[in-house]
Amino acid sequence: MRASPCRGCRRENVRPGEVRRENESTSSEAAVTQSEASSRTNEDADSKCTQSRKHKLSPDRERVSKVARHDTDRDISANSSVPSDLTTSGNSRKDSDASEPNKIIDNTSLVAEHYNALEEKGLRHRNQSRIVYMRNFNNWIKSMLINEYISKVRQNKNHGASLRVLDMCCGKGGDLFKWKKTNITHLICADIAEVSLEQCQQRYNDMSSRSPNDRGFAPIYTAEFITADCTKVRLREKYKDPSMQLDFVSCQFAFHYSFESLSQAECMLRNASETLRPGGYFVGTIPDAYDLVSRWQQCDGNKFGNDVYSIEFLCDKERPPLFGAKYNFHLEGVVDCPEFLVHLPTLRKLALKNGLELVSFERFDTFYERFKDEGRSLLGNMQALETYPPFHEVPLLGNPEQDYQHAVQYMQNLPDHRKIGTLSQSEWDATSLYAVFAFRKMKTVWNSEGKPEYVA
Ligand SMILES: C[S@@+](CC[C@H](N)C(=O)[O-])C[C@H]1O[C@@H](n2cnc3c(N)ncnc32)[C@H](O)[C@@H]1O
Repeated sequence: MRASPCRGCRRENVRPGEVRRENESTSSEAAVTQSEASSRTNEDADSKCTQSRKHKLSPDRERVSKVARHDTDRDISANSSVPSDLTTSGNSRKDSDASEPNKIIDNTSLVAEHYNALEEKGLRHRNQSRIVYMRNFNNWIKSMLINEYISKVRQNKNHGASLRVLDMCCGKGGDLFKWKKTNITHLICADIAEVSLEQCQQRYNDMSSRSPNDRGFAPIYTAEFITADCTKVRLREKYKDPSMQLDFVSCQFAFHYSFESLSQAECMLRNASETLRPGGYFVGTIPDAYDLVSRWQQCDGNKFGNDVYSIEFLCDKERPPLFGAKYNFHLEGVVDCPEFLVHLPTLRKLALKNGLELVSFERFDTFYERFKDEGRSLLGNMQALETYPPFHEVPLLGNPEQDYQHAVQYMQNLPDHRKIGTLSQSEWDATSLYAVFAFRKMKTVWNSEGKPEYVA
């Protein structure tokens, strides 16, 4: 078993971006990531921001920002309703393969098949994975995000009040323990992949059968499990109690599947919103489309990546559609299926239509910066960063010559740090593609035509 990189040692935690900031003469990709990172704020969803960010971009980013701005212009015409002229080319539910035009592809089935076929290999196998630290790091991000917004929900609740959660696209139940830690009372788990959901339910059963022995702590939350395509099925109709009001909805590493088409995105948002009470939160993690497009624009052709991830775009490079902007995403041993760009201004509009106000959109690197002190002990407990230089006999997971230059430089600048916690450059390049989002449910008022309107 791999030795713990963190236990017993207080390390400085450093991400590759931190070093890049100190060293201007980095590769163009690093510079892009950095300029994006430093210019992103919660206002990022705003099309105005797309314009202003242009000033911070290197010359070869200009073209990229034009693409993003172009889409924004195309999309946004008024404040609160989704324009009727949304370009949805390439968004047909069953589209055709660019390489084999006559072959019809059902992307949702591909995704379900892929996740169903993923074996539950257990902790031991996970600890041997090339991307174990990145996976742990992603888990840390989810924990901090969930904690942040569950705390906000709790602020408006009496002590001991119920707290109900929907985990949309829950997978094998990677977050079940997080829900236990946050002391929720009821959980609804939904996923399209039946086998994954069965594993999730089994995990829950195991956890709950162990719970009464947990030295007298309150019993674990109750749970229900729904196999459904959250982009096509109204989940409320499948709840044990369809009148139930939820406090919190989470959709981790999955919302982007819904941007295959307008109707799927609308269905997913409706599922996120319609049972959420005012003041409740819908949070999640998705790839940041601006960053994806920027890396795509900078590569020759449509494929880019490194030894841990690769992405191949299968849509128009000059004018990606708002829905159905498809790419195949491959992540070492974990993901290998079609995904879709989530155009943020469009998401924001669709969400508003469902009474969800965007309160935060933050890339993983800035989120990490904000929480790294508060979450320091959890970073250690979750083994979310690799120790550099490694402890005796523990090999580095990345390429020692190429993947830790940032760590070497960092340590040169701070000679008193004997060990630091970091991620290999390849893992960082993969994880820094992602962003967290949070929407707050607004109050519903009914207009004279009996239609819902939402107020902050
Ligand atoms: C990357 S996994 C994330 C799982 C879990 N949320 C987590 O963070 O560990 C993506 C999950 O989304 C699910 N998914 C993808 N498309 C879906 C859809 N249309 N409806 C419901 N679940 C879907 C997959 O089956 C898979 O379990």
